[in-house]
Amino acid sequence: MKIGVSGASGNLGQAIVGELTARSAGHETIAISRTPDRIPNGVTARYGDYDHPDTLAQAYAGLDRLVLIPSSDMRPGKRSEQNITAIEAAVSAGVKHVVILSGAGARDVAEPDIGAAYWASERYVIRNAPRWTILRMNYYAESLAQEATMATQRGALPGFSENRVAFVARDDIAAATAGILLGEGHAGATYTATGSKAYTGAERAALIAEVTGQSLGFLVVSAAAFKAGLEQAGIPTDFVNVLVSIQHHFAAGGMDIVTGDVERLAGRPPMALRDALVAALR
Ligand SMILES: NC(=O)c1ccc[n+]([C@@H]2O[C@H](COP(=O)([O-])OP(=O)(O)OC[C@H]3O[C@@H](n4cnc5c(N)ncnc54)[C@H](OP(=O)(O)O)[C@@H]3O)[C@@H](O)[C@H]2O)c1
Repeated sequence: MKIGVSGASGNLGQAIVGELTARSAGHETIAISRTPDRIPNGVTARYGDYDHPDTLAQAYAGLDRLVLIPSSDMRPGKRSEQNITAIEAAVSAGVKHVVILSGAGARDVAEPDIGAAYWASERYVIRNAPRWTILRMNYYAESLAQEATMATQRGALPGFSENRVAFVARDDIAAATAGILLGEGHAGATYTATGSKAYTGAERAALIAEVTGQSLGFLVVSAAAFKAGLEQAGIPTDFVNVLVSIQHHFAAGGMDIVTGDVERLAGRPPMALRDALVAALR
């Protein structure tokens, strides 16, 4: 069986390729990226660009199963366009089973909400792929670790209201994805990869303080103040808008979801948030 990983050179892609190569299930892993020279030795690499469908026809040829990792291009509408192009190319190339990575609680929202591309991609793959599986990702523990660095400098971890989030480690998403790609019985299923516990704002601020040894509290701020802070820090507008939409999801409880899907798919429990923060912040 030939298994493709599209977006293989990125953080998540490398972790998925690592999971697939570590398991001997009689499969061949094909790593697809615009920078195939970044693919580790011993793994078949192919060139594929979501913005150039002609390259994807060759990249996806002969694959039995394929996972599509969205790019990190936050220009409004761009990821919807790229994901749909990639699904279309996979179906045209005859890929038998397409796995897409989506976002927790994906629903019909307008750009620039981060969920808009996820929803469009889910709808498209369901309608067009012969066999499909959706893995919705909760918020990454590693992204919280990135926020922690700025938050500890300012002494506060901001949010729009107190809320709970079951952060998930990137490696757990990778292991769950490999479980789908190598397993059977996942066609037509939608899973949500989450950690095993949802943390309140105060709880996660306290955990970051404990791990970093710096004092930190959770602070409720307005969306306008949150946005202004990010803009002052020089973060590009498209990315700021995405971060604002994520905080709205947090405040609405959209990531207050604990499933058993990581354990079900990966065969082991999800990493504790504390361990993921220690690994990311060391
Ligand atoms: N839910 C969350 O909390 C959360 C947190 C972090 C990330 N994410 C999302 O998860 C996904 C993976 O994250 P990541 O950290 O692995 O991102 P990443 O390191 O930026 O990797 C993105 C991958 O997409 C590829 N790519 C970019 N533009 C492409 C194009 N035009 N055509 C084909 N491939 C392209 C990149 O490879 P080349 O440049 O080599 O082509 C790279 O392999 C992203 O969609 C990201 O937004 C979600």
